[in-house]
Amino acid sequence: MKKTLSFILILMVTAGLSYGQTDFQQDFVAEKQYLRLPVKNGAPSKTVEIKSEGEKLRWFTIELAEGEADWYAYLDISAWKGDTLSLHVNELSKGANVFQPIVQTDEDKNEGVLYEEKLRGQFHFSPKRGWNNDPNGLAFYKGEYHLFFQHNPYGRGWGNMHWGHAVSKDLVHWEEIDIALYPDKYGTMFSGGGVVDSNNTSGLGEIGQAPLILYYTAAEHSWKQGLAYSVDGRNFSKLPEPILDKISDGNRDPKVIWHEPSKRWVMVLYVTEADELHSMYFFTSTNMKHWEYASKYSGGYGNDRYMYECPEFFELPVEGNPSVKKWILTGANGQYAIGTFDGKTFSPEEERLFSQHGRDYYAAQTVSNEPKGRRIEIGWWRTHTDRNEMNFNQSMSIPTQLNLKQTENGLRLFRTPVEELKALRTDSYEASSIKLTPNGDNPLSKQKSETAEIRMTIDPETANNLQINLRGLVLNYQMNDEEIIIDGIRTHVPLVNGKQEFIIYVDRTGVEIFASGGQVFIPVNYNFAPSNTSYDVKVLGGDAVIEKLEFHKLKSIW
Ligand code: FRU
Repeated sequence: MKKTLSFILILMVTAGLSYGQTDFQQDFVAEKQYLRLPVKNGAPSKTVEIKSEGEKLRWFTIELAEGEADWYAYLDISAWKGDTLSLHVNELSKGANVFQPIVQTDEDKNEGVLYEEKLRGQFHFSPKRGWNNDPNGLAFYKGEYHLFFQHNPYGRGWGNMHWGHAVSKDLVHWEEIDIALYPDKYGTMFSGGGVVDSNNTSGLGEIGQAPLILYYTAAEHSWKQGLAYSVDGRNFSKLPEPILDKISDGNRDPKVIWHEPSKRWVMVLYVTEADELHSMYFFTSTNMKHWEYASKYSGGYGNDRYMYECPEFFELPVEGNPSVKKWILTGANGQYAIGTFDGKTFSPEEERLFSQHGRDYYAAQTVSNEPKGRRIEIGWWRTHTDRNEMNFNQSMSIPTQLNLKQTENGLRLFRTPVEELKALRTDSYEASSIKLTPNGDNPLSKQKSETAEIRMTIDPETANNLQINLRGLVLNYQMNDEEIIIDGIRTHVPLVNGKQEFIIYVDRTGVEIFASGGQVFIPVNYNFAPSNTSYDVKVLGGDAVIEKLEFHKLKSIW
Protein backbone atom coordinates (compact mmCIF):
# COMPACT_ATOMS: atom_id res chain seq x y z
CA MET A 1 0.00 0.00 0.00
CA LYS A 2 2.76 2.38 1.08
CA LYS A 3 4.67 1.54 -2.11
CA THR A 4 1.67 2.28 -4.35
CA LEU A 5 1.10 5.60 -2.64
CA SER A 6 4.66 6.74 -3.09
CA PHE A 7 4.56 5.58 -6.72
CA ILE A 8 1.49 7.74 -7.34
CA LEU A 9 3.21 10.62 -5.56
CA ILE A 10 6.30 10.31 -7.75
CA LEU A 11 4.06 10.23 -10.84
CA MET A 12 2.27 13.37 -9.70
CA VAL A 13 5.52 15.23 -8.99
CA THR A 14 7.03 14.25 -12.33
CA ALA A 15 3.89 15.24 -14.17
CA GLY A 16 3.83 18.54 -12.26
CA LEU A 17 7.44 19.26 -13.19
CA SER A 18 6.94 18.72 -16.86
CA TYR A 19 3.54 20.40 -16.99
CA GLY A 20 3.66 23.07 -19.62
CA GLN A 21 7.12 21.99 -20.67
CA THR A 22 8.36 20.09 -23.61
CA ASP A 23 11.66 18.79 -24.87
CA PHE A 24 12.72 20.78 -27.89
CA GLN A 25 14.55 19.52 -30.92
CA GLN A 26 15.33 21.20 -34.20
CA ASP A 27 17.71 20.53 -37.05
CA PHE A 28 19.70 23.28 -38.69
CA VAL A 29 22.57 23.56 -41.15
CA ALA A 30 25.74 25.03 -39.61
CA GLU A 31 26.57 28.05 -41.76
CA LYS A 32 28.30 30.55 -39.55
CA GLN A 33 30.89 30.41 -36.82
CA TYR A 34 28.67 30.66 -33.76
CA LEU A 35 25.31 29.53 -32.50
CA ARG A 36 23.79 32.27 -30.36
CA LEU A 37 22.44 31.18 -26.97
CA PRO A 38 20.24 33.58 -24.98
CA VAL A 39 20.96 33.65 -21.23
CA LYS A 40 18.79 34.93 -18.41
CA ASN A 41 20.78 35.07 -15.17
CA GLY A 42 19.08 32.93 -12.54
CA ALA A 43 16.64 31.22 -14.94
CA PRO A 44 16.09 27.47 -14.44
CA SER A 45 18.97 25.46 -15.81
CA LYS A 46 18.34 23.53 -19.05
CA THR A 47 20.48 20.94 -20.73
CA VAL A 48 21.45 21.71 -24.31
CA GLU A 49 22.91 19.13 -26.65
CA ILE A 50 24.21 19.55 -30.17
CA LYS A 51 24.25 16.32 -32.14
CA SER A 52 25.27 15.23 -35.58
CA GLU A 53 23.82 11.99 -36.92
CA GLY A 54 22.93 10.97 -33.38
CA GLU A 55 26.44 11.62 -32.01
CA LYS A 56 26.70 14.15 -29.18
CA LEU A 57 29.15 16.89 -30.14
CA ARG A 58 28.57 19.44 -27.39
CA TRP A 59 26.51 19.36 -24.22
CA PHE A 60 26.12 21.74 -21.34
CA THR A 61 23.69 23.30 -18.90
CA ILE A 62 22.55 26.87 -19.35
CA GLU A 63 20.19 29.37 -17.73
CA LEU A 64 18.29 29.73 -20.94
CA ALA A 65 16.29 32.91 -21.50
CA GLU A 66 12.81 31.91 -22.50
CA GLY A 67 11.83 35.56 -22.70
CA GLU A 68 14.12 38.56 -22.93
CA ALA A 69 17.82 37.68 -22.63
CA ASP A 70 20.30 39.36 -20.27
CA TRP A 71 23.12 38.44 -22.60
CA TYR A 72 24.16 35.93 -25.26
CA ALA A 73 26.67 33.10 -25.10
CA TYR A 74 28.22 31.94 -28.35
CA LEU A 75 28.91 28.31 -29.16
CA ASP A 76 31.56 27.78 -31.83
CA ILE A 77 30.10 25.47 -34.48
CA SER A 78 32.57 26.34 -37.25
CA ALA A 79 34.06 22.82 -37.20
CA TRP A 80 30.82 21.48 -38.69
CA LYS A 81 30.15 24.07 -41.40
CA GLY A 82 27.78 22.66 -44.01
CA ASP A 83 26.64 19.80 -41.75
CA THR A 84 23.14 19.33 -40.45
CA LEU A 85 23.20 19.59 -36.68
CA SER A 86 20.40 18.97 -34.29
CA LEU A 87 19.78 21.11 -31.27
CA HIS A 88 18.14 19.54 -28.22
CA VAL A 89 16.91 21.34 -25.13
CA ASN A 90 15.27 19.62 -22.19
CA GLU A 91 12.07 20.96 -20.70
CA LEU A 92 11.55 24.17 -22.60
CA SER A 93 8.35 25.95 -21.62
CA LYS A 94 5.64 25.29 -24.14
CA GLY A 95 5.32 28.28 -26.43
CA ALA A 96 8.76 29.69 -25.53
CA ASN A 97 10.30 30.87 -28.77
CA VAL A 98 13.94 30.71 -27.64
CA PHE A 99 15.30 29.10 -30.77
CA GLN A 100 12.68 30.23 -33.25
CA PRO A 101 14.56 31.07 -35.29
CA ILE A 102 17.93 29.54 -34.46
CA VAL A 103 20.40 32.44 -34.77
CA GLN A 104 23.89 31.93 -36.12
CA THR A 105 26.47 34.69 -36.36
CA ASP A 106 30.09 35.30 -37.29
CA GLU A 107 30.49 37.99 -34.61
CA ASP A 108 30.66 37.03 -30.97
CA LYS A 109 30.29 40.55 -29.65
CA ASN A 110 27.48 41.94 -27.61
CA GLU A 111 27.65 45.28 -29.39
CA GLY A 112 28.32 48.22 -27.11
CA VAL A 113 28.50 46.00 -24.04
CA LEU A 114 31.55 43.77 -24.22
CA TYR A 115 34.40 45.18 -22.07
CA GLU A 116 32.27 48.25 -21.33
CA GLU A 117 30.52 46.65 -18.34
CA LYS A 118 30.40 48.72 -15.17
CA LEU A 119 32.09 46.04 -13.09
CA ARG A 120 34.72 45.04 -15.66
CA GLY A 121 38.11 45.15 -13.94
CA GLN A 122 40.16 47.56 -16.02
CA PHE A 123 43.52 45.81 -15.77
CA HIS A 124 42.63 42.38 -14.46
CA PHE A 125 41.91 39.61 -16.91
CA SER A 126 38.31 38.43 -16.90
CA PRO A 127 36.45 36.33 -19.46
CA LYS A 128 34.47 37.98 -22.23
CA ARG A 129 31.39 36.29 -20.91
CA GLY A 130 30.52 33.58 -18.45
CA TRP A 131 32.52 32.42 -15.48
CA ASN A 132 36.21 31.84 -14.73
CA ASN A 133 38.00 30.25 -11.84
CA ASP A 134 41.54 28.88 -11.75
CA PRO A 135 44.28 29.92 -14.16
CA ASN A 136 45.48 26.84 -16.04
CA GLY A 137 48.38 25.88 -18.29
CA LEU A 138 50.28 29.16 -17.85
CA ALA A 139 53.18 29.03 -20.30
CA PHE A 140 55.21 31.17 -22.65
CA TYR A 141 55.09 29.61 -26.10
CA LYS A 142 56.01 30.96 -29.54
CA GLY A 143 56.31 34.57 -28.46
CA GLU A 144 53.15 34.71 -26.38
CA TYR A 145 52.06 34.17 -22.83
CA HIS A 146 49.19 31.69 -22.68
CA LEU A 147 46.59 31.93 -19.97
CA PHE A 148 44.07 29.11 -19.96
CA PHE A 149 41.36 29.21 -17.38
CA GLN A 150 38.54 27.23 -15.81
CA HIS A 151 35.58 28.50 -17.74
CA ASN A 152 31.84 28.22 -17.97
CA PRO A 153 31.10 29.87 -21.31
CA TYR A 154 27.31 29.62 -20.87
CA GLY A 155 26.66 31.12 -17.45
CA ARG A 156 27.93 33.38 -14.68
CA GLY A 157 28.20 30.54 -12.19
CA TRP A 158 30.67 27.66 -11.86
CA GLY A 159 29.86 24.69 -14.11
CA ASN A 160 30.44 23.05 -17.52
CA MET A 161 34.19 23.26 -17.01
CA HIS A 162 36.00 24.12 -20.25
CA TRP A 163 39.49 25.54 -20.67
CA GLY A 164 39.09 29.10 -21.88
CA HIS A 165 42.16 30.61 -23.53
CA ALA A 166 43.75 34.05 -23.73
CA VAL A 167 47.12 35.20 -25.08
CA SER A 168 49.32 38.17 -24.33
CA LYS A 169 52.62 39.58 -25.52
CA ASP A 170 53.27 41.46 -22.30
CA LEU A 171 51.38 39.66 -19.47
CA VAL A 172 49.15 42.71 -19.17
CA HIS A 173 47.02 43.03 -22.33
CA TRP A 174 45.12 39.81 -22.94
CA GLU A 175 43.21 38.73 -25.99
CA GLU A 176 40.67 36.00 -25.37
CA ILE A 177 40.64 33.49 -28.19
CA ASP A 178 38.85 30.22 -28.93
CA ILE A 179 38.14 27.75 -26.18
CA ALA A 180 41.04 25.28 -25.96
CA LEU A 181 39.43 22.25 -24.29
CA TYR A 182 35.80 21.12 -24.31
CA PRO A 183 34.30 18.49 -22.02
CA ASP A 184 34.48 15.00 -23.50
CA LYS A 185 33.29 11.48 -22.75
CA TYR A 186 35.77 11.22 -19.87
CA GLY A 187 34.44 14.29 -18.11
CA THR A 188 34.57 18.04 -17.73
CA MET A 189 37.90 19.80 -18.02
CA PHE A 190 39.28 20.55 -14.57
CA SER A 191 42.51 22.38 -13.80
CA GLY A 192 46.05 21.50 -14.80
CA GLY A 193 49.35 22.86 -16.03
CA GLY A 194 51.07 23.60 -19.31
CA VAL A 195 54.64 23.04 -20.36
CA VAL A 196 56.70 23.39 -23.52
CA ASP A 197 58.30 20.12 -24.61
CA SER A 198 61.41 21.76 -26.06
CA ASN A 199 63.18 18.51 -26.97
CA ASN A 200 60.05 16.81 -28.24
CA THR A 201 60.42 13.99 -25.71
CA SER A 202 56.71 13.32 -26.18
CA GLY A 203 57.08 12.87 -29.93
CA LEU A 204 54.00 15.05 -30.30
CA GLY A 205 55.85 17.93 -31.95
CA GLU A 206 56.61 18.38 -35.60
CA ILE A 207 59.96 19.06 -37.23
CA GLY A 208 61.29 22.26 -35.72
CA GLN A 209 58.06 22.67 -33.73
CA ALA A 210 58.24 21.92 -30.02
CA PRO A 211 54.73 21.21 -28.77
CA LEU A 212 52.90 23.00 -26.00
CA ILE A 213 51.55 20.25 -23.74
CA LEU A 214 48.58 20.69 -21.45
CA TYR A 215 47.64 18.37 -18.61
CA TYR A 216 44.09 18.41 -17.26
CA THR A 217 41.75 16.33 -15.15
CA ALA A 218 38.74 14.80 -16.90
CA ALA A 219 36.55 15.32 -13.87
CA GLU A 220 33.11 14.58 -12.46
CA HIS A 221 33.11 11.29 -14.29
CA SER A 222 36.35 9.39 -14.80
CA TRP A 223 38.76 11.49 -12.68
CA LYS A 224 41.54 10.44 -15.06
CA GLN A 225 44.33 12.75 -16.18
CA GLY A 226 44.48 13.77 -19.82
CA LEU A 227 47.02 15.31 -22.17
CA ALA A 228 46.37 17.81 -24.96
CA TYR A 229 48.98 19.28 -27.27
CA SER A 230 49.42 21.97 -29.86
CA VAL A 231 52.10 23.03 -32.30
CA ASP A 232 50.61 26.43 -33.04
CA GLY A 233 49.28 27.57 -29.66
CA ARG A 234 45.81 27.79 -31.17
CA ASN A 235 44.55 24.33 -32.03
CA PHE A 236 44.66 21.63 -29.38
CA SER A 237 44.36 17.87 -29.84
CA LYS A 238 43.79 15.46 -27.01
CA LEU A 239 45.44 12.07 -26.81
CA PRO A 240 42.54 9.67 -27.26
CA GLU A 241 43.18 7.91 -23.96
CA PRO A 242 43.95 9.41 -20.55
CA ILE A 243 47.59 9.24 -19.48
CA LEU A 244 47.01 8.51 -15.80
CA ASP A 245 44.29 6.48 -14.14
CA LYS A 246 42.18 7.56 -11.25
CA ILE A 247 43.77 7.13 -7.83
CA SER A 248 40.78 8.27 -5.83
CA ASP A 249 37.60 10.21 -6.56
CA GLY A 250 38.36 13.87 -6.88
CA ASN A 251 42.10 13.49 -7.58
CA ARG A 252 42.97 16.43 -9.78
CA ASP A 253 45.00 19.38 -11.05
CA PRO A 254 48.17 17.82 -12.56
CA LYS A 255 51.12 20.20 -12.66
CA VAL A 256 54.06 19.05 -14.76
CA ILE A 257 57.63 20.38 -14.76
CA TRP A 258 60.95 19.36 -16.26
CA HIS A 259 63.56 18.25 -13.70
CA GLU A 260 66.93 18.81 -15.34
CA PRO A 261 69.23 16.84 -12.95
CA SER A 262 67.25 13.61 -13.33
CA LYS A 263 66.30 14.41 -16.95
CA ARG A 264 62.70 13.55 -16.19
CA TRP A 265 59.31 15.11 -16.23
CA VAL A 266 57.70 15.37 -12.82
CA MET A 267 53.96 15.54 -12.24
CA VAL A 268 52.43 16.71 -8.98
CA LEU A 269 48.82 15.65 -8.53
CA TYR A 270 46.39 16.44 -5.75
CA VAL A 271 44.91 13.29 -4.17
CA THR A 272 42.39 13.02 -1.32
CA GLU A 273 43.32 10.09 0.90
CA ALA A 274 41.45 8.28 3.67
CA ASP A 275 39.99 10.57 6.35
CA GLU A 276 40.20 13.42 3.85
CA LEU A 277 43.94 13.74 4.06
CA HIS A 278 45.16 16.23 1.46
CA SER A 279 48.17 14.84 -0.34
CA MET A 280 50.36 15.81 -3.26
CA TYR A 281 51.51 12.78 -5.25
CA PHE A 282 54.68 12.91 -7.33
CA PHE A 283 55.08 10.93 -10.56
CA THR A 284 57.95 10.84 -13.06
CA SER A 285 58.11 10.24 -16.80
CA THR A 286 60.57 10.34 -19.66
CA ASN A 287 58.03 10.66 -22.47
CA MET A 288 55.24 12.70 -20.84
CA LYS A 289 52.73 9.90 -21.44
CA HIS A 290 53.74 7.04 -19.14
CA TRP A 291 53.95 8.01 -15.51
CA GLU A 292 55.43 6.20 -12.54
CA TYR A 293 54.52 6.90 -8.96
CA ALA A 294 57.50 8.31 -7.03
CA SER A 295 56.40 9.67 -3.65
CA LYS A 296 53.89 11.82 -1.82
CA TYR A 297 53.78 14.75 0.55
CA SER A 298 50.75 15.11 2.81
CA GLY A 299 49.18 18.25 4.23
CA GLY A 300 46.14 18.73 6.43
CA TYR A 301 42.95 16.78 7.08
CA GLY A 302 39.49 17.96 6.08
CA ASN A 303 39.07 21.65 6.74
CA ASP A 304 42.78 22.07 7.34
CA ARG A 305 43.45 22.92 3.73
CA TYR A 306 47.25 22.84 3.75
CA MET A 307 48.17 21.14 0.45
CA TYR A 308 44.58 21.06 -0.77
CA GLU A 309 44.13 21.03 -4.59
CA CYS A 310 45.96 22.91 -7.36
CA PRO A 311 49.60 22.03 -6.65
CA GLU A 312 52.33 24.34 -7.91
CA PHE A 313 55.97 23.28 -7.74
CA PHE A 314 59.08 25.20 -8.75
CA GLU A 315 62.66 25.94 -7.85
CA LEU A 316 64.03 29.38 -6.95
CA PRO A 317 67.51 30.63 -6.15
CA VAL A 318 67.97 32.47 -2.86
CA GLU A 319 68.31 36.16 -3.65
CA GLY A 320 71.89 37.31 -3.16
CA ASN A 321 73.09 33.71 -2.90
CA PRO A 322 72.16 32.18 -6.27
CA SER A 323 74.13 28.97 -5.83
CA VAL A 324 71.61 27.99 -3.15
CA LYS A 325 68.33 26.87 -4.67
CA LYS A 326 65.21 25.60 -2.99
CA TRP A 327 61.99 23.94 -4.13
CA ILE A 328 58.62 25.47 -3.29
CA LEU A 329 55.42 23.42 -3.13
CA THR A 330 52.07 25.20 -2.78
CA GLY A 331 48.41 24.27 -2.61
CA ALA A 332 45.41 26.27 -3.79
CA ASN A 333 45.14 28.56 -0.76
CA GLY A 334 48.73 29.72 -1.22
CA GLN A 335 50.11 27.96 1.85
CA TYR A 336 53.51 26.60 0.93
CA ALA A 337 56.51 24.53 1.95
CA ILE A 338 60.17 25.15 1.12
CA GLY A 339 62.53 22.23 0.75
CA THR A 340 64.73 20.10 -1.46
CA PHE A 341 63.82 17.74 -4.28
CA ASP A 342 65.91 14.87 -5.63
CA GLY A 343 63.76 14.17 -8.66
CA LYS A 344 61.48 11.82 -6.76
CA THR A 345 60.92 13.02 -3.22
CA PHE A 346 60.21 16.46 -1.83
CA SER A 347 61.84 16.95 1.59
CA PRO A 348 60.44 19.98 3.39
CA GLU A 349 62.60 22.26 5.47
CA GLU A 350 59.92 24.83 6.29
CA GLU A 351 56.21 24.14 6.18
CA ARG A 352 52.84 25.88 6.41
CA LEU A 353 54.05 29.27 5.29
CA PHE A 354 51.64 31.84 3.80
CA SER A 355 52.19 33.50 0.45
CA GLN A 356 49.17 35.80 0.71
CA HIS A 357 47.31 37.44 3.58
CA GLY A 358 44.23 38.78 1.87
CA ARG A 359 40.92 37.45 0.71
CA ASP A 360 39.86 35.14 -2.08
CA TYR A 361 43.13 34.77 -3.93
CA TYR A 362 43.17 31.14 -4.94
CA ALA A 363 44.53 28.35 -7.13
CA ALA A 364 47.47 30.42 -8.33
CA GLN A 365 49.84 29.04 -10.91
CA THR A 366 53.19 30.13 -12.30
CA VAL A 367 54.25 30.61 -15.90
CA SER A 368 56.47 27.90 -17.34
CA ASN A 369 59.18 28.63 -19.90
CA GLU A 370 59.23 32.30 -18.86
CA PRO A 371 61.63 33.98 -21.33
CA LYS A 372 63.36 36.18 -18.74
CA GLY A 373 63.68 33.29 -16.29
CA ARG A 374 61.35 34.95 -13.80
CA ARG A 375 58.89 33.02 -11.64
CA ILE A 376 55.60 34.76 -12.38
CA GLU A 377 52.37 33.89 -10.67
CA ILE A 378 48.74 34.64 -11.50
CA GLY A 379 45.92 33.68 -9.16
CA TRP A 380 42.18 33.40 -9.48
CA TRP A 381 40.78 36.48 -7.76
CA ARG A 382 37.24 35.87 -6.64
CA THR A 383 35.78 39.25 -7.44
CA HIS A 384 32.10 40.00 -6.96
CA THR A 385 31.05 40.67 -10.51
CA ASP A 386 27.82 38.67 -10.70
CA ARG A 387 25.68 41.74 -10.18
CA ASN A 388 22.70 43.04 -12.17
CA GLU A 389 22.58 41.90 -15.76
CA MET A 390 26.41 41.53 -15.93
CA ASN A 391 27.43 38.91 -18.48
CA PHE A 392 30.70 37.75 -16.95
CA ASN A 393 31.92 36.85 -13.49
CA GLN A 394 35.29 36.56 -11.68
CA SER A 395 38.80 37.57 -12.70
CA MET A 396 42.51 36.91 -12.37
CA SER A 397 44.95 38.78 -10.15
CA ILE A 398 47.63 40.96 -11.64
CA PRO A 399 50.76 38.94 -12.50
CA THR A 400 53.34 39.04 -9.73
CA GLN A 401 56.98 38.01 -9.61
CA LEU A 402 58.08 35.62 -6.88
CA ASN A 403 61.51 35.69 -5.28
CA LEU A 404 63.04 33.75 -2.43
CA LYS A 405 64.73 35.82 0.24
CA GLN A 406 66.45 35.26 3.54
CA THR A 407 64.63 36.87 6.47
CA GLU A 408 65.32 36.72 10.18
CA ASN A 409 62.68 33.98 10.37
CA GLY A 410 64.13 31.90 7.55
CA LEU A 411 63.61 31.80 3.80
CA ARG A 412 60.37 33.35 2.55
CA LEU A 413 58.64 34.03 -0.76
CA PHE A 414 58.51 37.71 -1.68
CA ARG A 415 56.19 39.09 -4.30
CA THR A 416 56.19 42.20 -6.46
CA PRO A 417 53.95 43.29 -9.34
CA VAL A 418 55.57 42.52 -12.71
CA GLU A 419 57.35 45.49 -14.25
CA GLU A 420 55.24 45.22 -17.43
CA LEU A 421 52.35 46.81 -15.51
CA LYS A 422 54.20 50.13 -15.66
CA ALA A 423 53.04 50.41 -19.27
CA LEU A 424 49.54 51.16 -17.96
CA ARG A 425 50.61 54.31 -16.12
CA THR A 426 49.16 57.59 -17.22
CA ASP A 427 48.77 60.97 -15.52
CA SER A 428 51.48 60.39 -12.99
CA TYR A 429 52.02 62.50 -9.90
CA GLU A 430 55.17 62.29 -7.80
CA ALA A 431 56.24 64.04 -4.62
CA SER A 432 58.75 63.57 -1.84
CA SER A 433 59.38 64.51 1.80
CA ILE A 434 55.77 65.18 2.68
CA LYS A 435 55.21 65.88 6.35
CA LEU A 436 51.96 64.38 7.60
CA THR A 437 50.40 65.86 10.72
CA PRO A 438 46.99 65.11 12.26
CA ASN A 439 44.50 67.51 10.62
CA GLY A 440 47.15 68.39 8.00
CA ASP A 441 46.68 68.50 4.23
CA ASN A 442 45.81 65.44 2.17
CA PRO A 443 48.67 64.92 -0.30
CA LEU A 444 46.36 63.03 -2.67
CA SER A 445 43.60 65.64 -2.66
CA LYS A 446 44.01 66.37 -6.37
CA GLN A 447 44.05 62.75 -7.50
CA LYS A 448 40.79 61.41 -8.84
CA SER A 449 40.67 58.07 -10.60
CA GLU A 450 38.82 54.77 -10.74
CA THR A 451 42.12 52.93 -11.15
CA ALA A 452 45.47 53.64 -9.57
CA GLU A 453 48.95 52.45 -8.76
CA ILE A 454 50.13 54.10 -5.56
CA ARG A 455 53.65 53.80 -4.19
CA MET A 456 54.52 55.24 -0.85
CA THR A 457 57.56 55.04 1.43
CA ILE A 458 56.69 56.07 4.97
CA ASP A 459 58.77 56.98 7.96
CA PRO A 460 56.31 56.59 10.85
CA GLU A 461 58.16 59.01 13.16
CA THR A 462 55.73 59.62 16.06
CA ALA A 463 52.43 58.67 14.41
CA ASN A 464 50.42 55.70 15.73
CA ASN A 465 48.24 55.26 12.80
CA LEU A 466 48.30 55.87 9.08
CA GLN A 467 45.06 55.81 7.15
CA ILE A 468 44.94 55.55 3.40
CA ASN A 469 41.44 56.06 2.10
CA LEU A 470 41.15 54.38 -1.29
CA ARG A 471 37.89 55.46 -2.88
CA GLY A 472 36.10 54.87 0.41
CA LEU A 473 37.94 51.68 1.38
CA VAL A 474 40.20 52.50 4.33
CA LEU A 475 43.57 50.85 4.79
CA ASN A 476 44.46 51.32 8.43
CA TYR A 477 48.12 50.82 9.28
CA GLN A 478 48.73 50.68 13.01
CA MET A 479 52.39 51.43 13.13
CA ASN A 480 53.02 50.48 16.76
CA ASP A 481 51.62 47.00 16.21
CA GLU A 482 52.85 46.88 12.62
CA GLU A 483 49.44 45.69 11.56
CA ILE A 484 47.13 46.42 8.64
CA ILE A 485 43.38 46.36 9.05
CA ILE A 486 41.32 46.65 5.89
CA ASP A 487 37.73 45.59 5.28
CA GLY A 488 37.78 43.06 8.13
CA ILE A 489 41.21 41.65 7.19
CA ARG A 490 43.88 42.02 9.85
CA THR A 491 47.46 41.04 9.21
CA HIS A 492 50.97 41.63 10.50
CA VAL A 493 52.96 43.93 8.22
CA PRO A 494 56.45 44.49 9.62
CA LEU A 495 58.38 47.72 9.19
CA VAL A 496 61.62 47.23 7.29
CA ASN A 497 64.51 49.21 8.77
CA GLY A 498 61.94 51.27 10.63
CA LYS A 499 60.04 52.21 7.45
CA GLN A 500 57.13 50.95 5.45
CA GLU A 501 56.75 50.79 1.71
CA PHE A 502 53.36 50.23 0.14
CA ILE A 503 52.55 49.40 -3.45
CA ILE A 504 48.80 49.47 -4.01
CA TYR A 505 46.87 48.65 -7.15
CA VAL A 506 43.27 49.86 -7.25
CA ASP A 507 40.75 48.56 -9.76
CA ARG A 508 36.95 48.62 -9.88
CA THR A 509 36.72 45.27 -8.13
CA GLY A 510 39.28 45.61 -5.37
CA VAL A 511 42.83 46.38 -4.32
CA GLU A 512 46.10 44.43 -4.24
CA ILE A 513 48.47 45.64 -1.55
CA PHE A 514 52.17 44.80 -1.44
CA ALA A 515 53.99 45.73 1.76
CA SER A 516 57.17 45.11 3.76
CA GLY A 517 59.29 45.03 0.61
CA GLY A 518 57.06 42.37 -0.96
CA GLN A 519 56.92 39.99 1.98
CA VAL A 520 53.25 40.70 2.57
CA PHE A 521 50.63 40.51 -0.17
CA ILE A 522 47.05 41.47 0.66
CA PRO A 523 44.49 41.12 -2.12
CA VAL A 524 41.11 42.56 -1.08
CA ASN A 525 38.12 42.04 -3.33
CA TYR A 526 35.77 45.01 -3.00
CA ASN A 527 33.31 46.59 -5.39
CA PHE A 528 33.88 50.35 -5.34
CA ALA A 529 31.08 52.85 -5.74
CA PRO A 530 31.75 54.28 -9.22
CA SER A 531 31.00 57.78 -7.95
CA ASN A 532 33.82 57.77 -5.39
CA THR A 533 37.16 58.30 -7.12
CA SER A 534 38.97 60.11 -4.28
CA TYR A 535 42.07 59.25 -2.30
CA ASP A 536 43.22 60.51 1.05
CA VAL A 537 46.19 59.92 3.36
CA LYS A 538 46.25 60.97 6.98
CA VAL A 539 47.96 60.25 10.29
CA LEU A 540 46.64 59.94 13.81
CA GLY A 541 48.40 60.31 17.15
CA GLY A 542 51.58 61.97 15.89
CA ASP A 543 53.50 62.97 12.76
CA ALA A 544 54.92 60.89 9.92
CA VAL A 545 56.80 61.58 6.71
CA ILE A 546 56.06 60.22 3.26
CA GLU A 547 59.56 60.08 1.89
CA LYS A 548 58.41 59.21 -1.61
CA LEU A 549 54.96 59.28 -3.13
CA GLU A 550 53.84 58.17 -6.57
CA PHE A 551 50.29 58.14 -7.88
CA HIS A 552 49.60 56.82 -11.36
CA LYS A 553 46.23 56.52 -13.01
CA LEU A 554 46.12 53.26 -14.92
CA LYS A 555 44.80 52.76 -18.44
CA SER A 556 42.37 50.02 -19.25
CA ILE A 557 43.82 46.89 -20.87
CA TRP A 558 40.70 46.37 -22.98
C1 FRU B 1 40.03 24.89 -7.53
C2 FRU B 1 39.29 23.74 -8.20
C3 FRU B 1 40.26 22.71 -8.74
C4 FRU B 1 39.47 22.07 -9.84
C5 FRU B 1 38.74 23.26 -10.40
C6 FRU B 1 37.40 22.95 -10.99
O1 FRU B 1 39.35 26.08 -7.60
O2 FRU B 1 38.40 23.16 -7.30
O3 FRU B 1 40.72 21.80 -7.79
O4 FRU B 1 40.27 21.46 -10.79
O5 FRU B 1 38.58 24.17 -9.34
O6 FRU B 1 36.87 24.06 -11.62
